[in-house]
Amino acid sequence: MARRILVTSGLPYANGHIHIGHLVEYIQTDIWVRFQKMRGNDVVFICGDDTHGTTMMLRARAENKSEEEIIASMHEAHLRDFNGFGIEFDFYGTTHSEENRQICADIWKALRQHNLIEEREIEQLYDTEANTFLADRFVKGTCPVCGKKDQYGDNCECGAHYSPTDLTDALSTITGTKPVLRKAKHLFVNIEREHKFLDEWVHSGALHVEIANYLTGQFLNNELRSWDVSRPAPYFGFEIPDSPDNYWYVWFDAPTGYIGSTWQWCKLSGKDYKKYWQDSETEIHHFIGKDITYFHTLFWPTMLKVAGLTLPKKVHVHGFLTVNGEKMAKRRGTFILASTFLKHLNPDYLRYFYATKTTNRVDDLDLNFGELESRINSDLVGNLVNLASRTAKFIKGAGLSPSYPEDGGLFAQGAALSDEIADAYENCEFGKAVRLIMECGDRANKFIEDSAPWSIPSQPDNENKLRDICTIGLNLFRQMVVYLSPILPRIKTETENFLGGTISGWSDSQQPIIGQPVHSYKHLIKRVDRAAIEQIIEESKQPETNDNSSREFQDSGDVLAAEPLLSERITIDDFAKVDLRVARVVEAAEVEGARKLLRLRLSFGGNESRQVFAGIKSAYNPNDLVGRLVVCVANLQPRQMKFGLSEGMVVAAGSGNDEIFLITPDDGAKPGMRLH
Ligand code: MSP
Ligand code: ZN
Repeated sequence: MARRILVTSGLPYANGHIHIGHLVEYIQTDIWVRFQKMRGNDVVFICGDDTHGTTMMLRARAENKSEEEIIASMHEAHLRDFNGFGIEFDFYGTTHSEENRQICADIWKALRQHNLIEEREIEQLYDTEANTFLADRFVKGTCPVCGKKDQYGDNCECGAHYSPTDLTDALSTITGTKPVLRKAKHLFVNIEREHKFLDEWVHSGALHVEIANYLTGQFLNNELRSWDVSRPAPYFGFEIPDSPDNYWYVWFDAPTGYIGSTWQWCKLSGKDYKKYWQDSETEIHHFIGKDITYFHTLFWPTMLKVAGLTLPKKVHVHGFLTVNGEKMAKRRGTFILASTFLKHLNPDYLRYFYATKTTNRVDDLDLNFGELESRINSDLVGNLVNLASRTAKFIKGAGLSPSYPEDGGLFAQGAALSDEIADAYENCEFGKAVRLIMECGDRANKFIEDSAPWSIPSQPDNENKLRDICTIGLNLFRQMVVYLSPILPRIKTETENFLGGTISGWSDSQQPIIGQPVHSYKHLIKRVDRAAIEQIIEESKQPETNDNSSREFQDSGDVLAAEPLLSERITIDDFAKVDLRVARVVEAAEVEGARKLLRLRLSFGGNESRQVFAGIKSAYNPNDLVGRLVVCVANLQPRQMKFGLSEGMVVAAGSGNDEIFLITPDDGAKPGMRLH
């Protein structure tokens, strides 16, 4: 029976253009959707722009335009980019819609009815010139722990977490003025009350176990902090109906945009949106990046459950893109916009390359341009297209053989892989699917090689033989195209034009086509032009600004713990640079004037001892520390702090809140020992 499936990708911020990092997600989702449609399922692919928040408000002020004008032009730009990459939504909406406002109001009412909403007054920094409260990321100042200048309001490069009011010399990044503290009422969702439900849902099969374990370890093992979902005026968003002058925080009305957009689509196509969001028969699949996991796996399920709406069947979480092994960076020309890529290279290259890299795990993936070049040249040009280009010319007028010739079982072998390839697509293991398909191509090319149609003299008594070889080659080619069509829909369409006969479903991989005329072969894909890659990089080079300038930054209110799931990879040599040593605490004392710091004296055995400042005061009493073993980064550049010189760093685990756990070696370890 056909499944009814609603699929979403994360809603891109309306403030920024689509870049190749985003495309990891939209291409992945599009491939999955196209696959499901080919399988005959009833699928709808919904997305839209995420429009609200402070960043949009400030941009509108700066550009002297209305938010709506900016939203409209970005909507158009986003659709142009998606279209260029063959990403085909059934509906692309916006969170700034009446439908979304209505959904938010309904969910809000349900949260109130379940007594999940709490009111609290909080103190926050306020920019008196811009007349707005400042989210943590709009404040910069000197780190209270290490003394480094120009650090954001929530954490420092040194790894310290704090609140913006802890910064010395805090300044607003909007106006550069000194912010003042101001009180305001905020509304919170007490998600702790749904803790039991979340414990169960997280392990219900909706999440990869890797994600479920992360959520348990980072959040669900502790009491869940209430979620701050309101922002006082001025704010660009929806005003909360029963709390005048307060607005829903952008992350409240962003996921509801999935429903709002579904509703808009239903109105246009005469469908009932309740069929999608209030019907347990419908499978809801969200595709998101790892950075927004907890919004989709803690807050969002709570909102849906309380409002009696359908919970996601699956949240597919992918990792982040690196380019040539490093984070995308404007300075290096690797922060590449979708539109820049489209100007110079065939979008199919990226669709195919990302497919080869897609697993169902949360690992980051790397776009290495050398690798892209060799994958495209060997798989698509050298394997797939080679089959067609080497055979089509020998069959010109004749057309395909009237019955399928003996091919040594090659077509049947390919047909038999149908389920295995389909499973790989279903599980988002596109890399595996591609591998299986390319193996078909290897066998087919070997057949052509061995049959060498080019060496058969063209004379009447050879005609049938030539036609048979080509019929086999073209059918094996077409079988691959069927399997690849979720990834390469354009090649699918061109193959239909070339060989005749539509490719409409997965089952087209099971039957060879025969007896039809063949149209003249046009090049389906060409080799990667290296100069074009260089042009893209050159054109993308810009002085470094904040790479995340378009993001609506999260306040500390959201971030139950800000640790990324999987961080950037390092080599063993990188690791070896860190000299970790066992040390004994010989003195520990509070530091006058420091809220978080303790002053430690560490002994490394012999008579070497050092002074180290550690931000662990909230969790440890100095007297309890004396005598215990800790682990210290011994080769850290010493830092002059307001309170004295710090000659190392003590290693501790933490959630980023006030939970801190010092690391201690097992019994028997001695001060001075190195960690390997
Ligand atoms: N607006 C939010 C999502 C709201 S969903 C209710 C947002 N927008 S975003 O524009 O920053 O990102 C959109 C999606 O693209 C997210 O799922 C995000 O994880 C993904 N990616 C953004 N940059 C990415 C990479 N560099 N690599 C892989 N995915 C990336 O977050
Ligand atoms: Zn610091």
